[in-house]
Amino acid sequence: MACSDCQPDPKLRKDASFFWIEQEGYDNKPCNNCGARHLDIVMADALAVMIKCGCRNNEAKLFDVGTPLITIGCPLAFAPRLKTDELILIVDNIDQQVAVELIDIPEIKGVIKRVGTPAQSVGIPDTDKKPHVYELLAGCDMRCDVVASVFGELCIYKNQSKIHIEFGRESPEKMQVLERLYVQGHLTGETVIDGFCGPGTLGLMCVLAGAKHLILNDAWKYAIENTLLNIEANKEILGMELEKLVDTSTMPDIGDEPVHVAHAKGNGSVIDIFHGDFRKLLEIVDDFDICLIDTYPSINAATFVKDDTDKRMIII
Ligand SMILES: C[S@@+](CC[C@H](N)C(=O)[O-])C[C@H]1O[C@@H](n2cnc3c(N)ncnc32)[C@H](O)[C@@H]1O
Ligand SMILES: [Zn+2]
Repeated sequence: MACSDCQPDPKLRKDASFFWIEQEGYDNKPCNNCGARHLDIVMADALAVMIKCGCRNNEAKLFDVGTPLITIGCPLAFAPRLKTDELILIVDNIDQQVAVELIDIPEIKGVIKRVGTPAQSVGIPDTDKKPHVYELLAGCDMRCDVVASVFGELCIYKNQSKIHIEFGRESPEKMQVLERLYVQGHLTGETVIDGFCGPGTLGLMCVLAGAKHLILNDAWKYAIENTLLNIEANKEILGMELEKLVDTSTMPDIGDEPVHVAHAKGNGSVIDIFHGDFRKLLEIVDDFDICLIDTYPSINAATFVKDDTDKRMIII
């Protein structure tokens, strides 16, 4: 938020060329009191660097810089004021040299080059598909979403060049599915599988909702690495200690037969973490109450639902 000494919103037009933004003049000094700058000012400075390096022309607009990801993600009703290392940029058509110059802007923590179109999800849509990853050109791509539900809040860390980027409504809608299950009397005391766990968001929320046994699984190594980090980062609110069973750096990028990677316990709950294909997980785990199926939008989640079971399989 702006402090009482921050300049008012600069109201820079995202659709005006940088030429016009410069003509009208903008004050890019940080606030004397809190040291923060408005997101648009940081983006204008980024555009100035890109124009200087020749990777955008003078007619380029703020829109043309790329997609700004705030490193601490939570719903905001206004554009944020940023301090050191609070912005990661996802940029089209950029080379490493420009990215290195961009991270000299204090607020910019990392620069990621987008590959393909924004509609293509980062990661693996399925185990037989080629991974789609972005390229970290400079700095660091680790950011965190503060995910809130009636059960509490979790900090979910993600390496954004390798992990699916969730925007706006997606996460609250998924939390509503869990909240509905909870009020229907599920989750508490139950065994839950989060079969496509990504960085672990849904499953870990189920632990806060009182699940007694959680099985987290993903076929993408980087999702599992972020899941382990998120159990560690949230261990106080979860009340659990993590024990790693496998050195994740030795795992293949895409898992097949499920490998038991780690487990965690505490507060009356247990978590088991697997790296593998969901189809094969269900061959070895059939003692559960609820299974969450959260695939990418391009994948028909219904094909993963087992018809010959009386367990609840919930497509998210
Ligand atoms: C939409 S993302 C999950 C997001 C996650 N539930 C969250 O809320 O953060 C889908 C996940 O499915 C994983 N995946 C794709 N095919 C899989 C398969 N056959 N078995 C297990 N995981 C798979 C991907 O690696 C990806 O992490
Ligand atoms: Zn201020």
